[in-house]
Amino acid sequence: MVDRDTSRAAPAQGGSPVPSERTGAVRGGRLPAAQLGARGGAGWLLGACMHLVGLFPLLRWVVLGLTDGLTANPPLFLTWSSGDWALILLLIVLAVTPIRRLTGWNALLRHRRKLGLYAFFYTVLHVIAWAVWDRDGVPAAMWMDLWQRTFIGIGALAVLCLIPLALTSTHGWMRRLGRWWMRLHWLIYPSAVLSIWHFFWMRAGKNDYLEPRLSAWILAALLGIRLLWWLRKAGQRRRVDGPH
Ligand code: HEM
Repeated sequence: MVDRDTSRAAPAQGGSPVPSERTGAVRGGRLPAAQLGARGGAGWLLGACMHLVGLFPLLRWVVLGLTDGLTANPPLFLTWSSGDWALILLLIVLAVTPIRRLTGWNALLRHRRKLGLYAFFYTVLHVIAWAVWDRDGVPAAMWMDLWQRTFIGIGALAVLCLIPLALTSTHGWMRRLGRWWMRLHWLIYPSAVLSIWHFFWMRAGKNDYLEPRLSAWILAALLGIRLLWWLRKAGQRRRVDGPH
């Protein structure tokens, strides 16, 4: 799962049939080496930290489970908690490019895919929790719920946007799809918007909007900064091209 920043990559020269792992040359264009997961000296340490971030919710549930901390209603707690962490990790994925551009910490880019897969992992757990605990694992009841409760339908749309991103997250798919891979991965934006909409709608019944509002502000800031950069780049390009 990526965002558009990497689309500045130059087109491939000569259409090499066997793409290079180092340069990331692909049939339809070129992906930066960082995007393909090239490793540097102390990259493993950052990689380990990213795994720690991704595994933290799971470890937390284990600790809470062992210490009787899963509240009086563990199924509901785990359904909520998996949804919360799926969204938090999705927002962290979207924060990678702005942080990288503001700090120059390019190594971060290599680990974005990992975080994206963790976000998907918690989304899958969240959906399984709903299917098993909320709908008793009955397909007809799940199908009805998708249509009867609007926030469930919206959540399902968010998941539908995430599935192709997870399926095409391998190096093989990156090379095969070339530039289309980056375009496909723009689906992360509608997915994030739909996830927050799902969150708002779910909380509407409880009239408790604090966390949905907070996540909406974070998403707005992350998308706003990209829009600003995009507008600045478009302005620069117009100045270079000059009047026609
Ligand atoms: C088929 C897709 C989905 C289904 C069936 C689903 C189902 C649910 C259910 C049953 C709840 C609890 C509702 C309640 O207690 O009244 C919930 C809450 C939530 N879901 Fe989903 N969801 C889906 C997709 C997503 C996605 C893609 C995300 C984010 C990436 C997400 C994030 C959340 C969040 C943040 C909450 C609120 C948790 C809280 O209140 O702390 N959901 N969802």
